[in-house]
Amino acid sequence: MPGGSGFWAERVLITAASAAICPAGLDPVQAGALPVAGLTAYQSLEALGLSRGQRLLITNGGGATGVLALQIAAARGIEVTVTASASAAERLRGLGALEVVDYHDSDWAGRVRGGFDGALIAAGGTAQAALSLVRDGGRLVSLTSDAPTGERGITSTDLYVRPDAAQLAHLAEAVVEGKLKQNVEALPLSEGPAAFAQVSAGQAGGKKLVLVLT
Ligand SMILES: NC(=O)c1ccc[n+]([C@@H]2O[C@H](COP(=O)([O-])OP(=O)(O)OC[C@H]3O[C@@H](n4cnc5c(N)ncnc54)[C@H](OP(=O)(O)O)[C@@H]3O)[C@@H](O)[C@H]2O)c1
Repeated sequence: MPGGSGFWAERVLITAASAAICPAGLDPVQAGALPVAGLTAYQSLEALGLSRGQRLLITNGGGATGVLALQIAAARGIEVTVTASASAAERLRGLGALEVVDYHDSDWAGRVRGGFDGALIAAGGTAQAALSLVRDGGRLVSLTSDAPTGERGITSTDLYVRPDAAQLAHLAEAVVEGKLKQNVEALPLSEGPAAFAQVSAGQAGGKKLVLVLT
């Protein structure tokens, strides 16, 4: 942060409980991309509480968060259906999605077999349609602050990511081991304003943009 006399302070204070040591072999750009998307994905799956063989719907399964939730869920034997652009379908199947539904189809919800045990909402405006696809007594977790009122015994909640050093360390190891793949692009710090505009407009193509001091 800028100091009063025109120089930049070089120290940042952070709570130990919020940080993890970057493991050997983890590229700093990959590390920079991981905390928010990784912890959100991980904590969403904890909140959904699904087990092997159960079915999960992720709206925006190709976005920075959804693609990590997809991989963590698939590794646990959960059967994942995602909504995404058709152009992302092959990549997402390769990461474990059983089914990829094109969200540009206005009747995407009508093309999906319902009865999901859980739904993760990572695209605004999709929660209500997703709720109708969740089985009685299932769970819905929204990242977009629009969890609908529960019905048919469905638990429907908004989730907000929280720092967690142990979870972050676990996720970082998974990236090093190649069990979690992120779509990351490094950009020079000077491109920050343009990158911010791109992300704000939802045009980052599901990539995490990481600004690097050169
Ligand atoms: N509550 C929390 O703690 C928390 C934490 C992290 C993120 N979030 C929220 O979660 C949401 C997702 O964030 P993110 O960073 O994971 O996503 P992201 O990477 O920014 O997702 C961007 C992609 O979403 C796709 N998309 C747009 N509308 C869609 C729709 N209706 N259905 C399916 N896909 C759609 C687009 O794909 P195409 O380019 O192929 O069109 C776009 O590339 C955001 O609203 C974000 O604010 C919340």
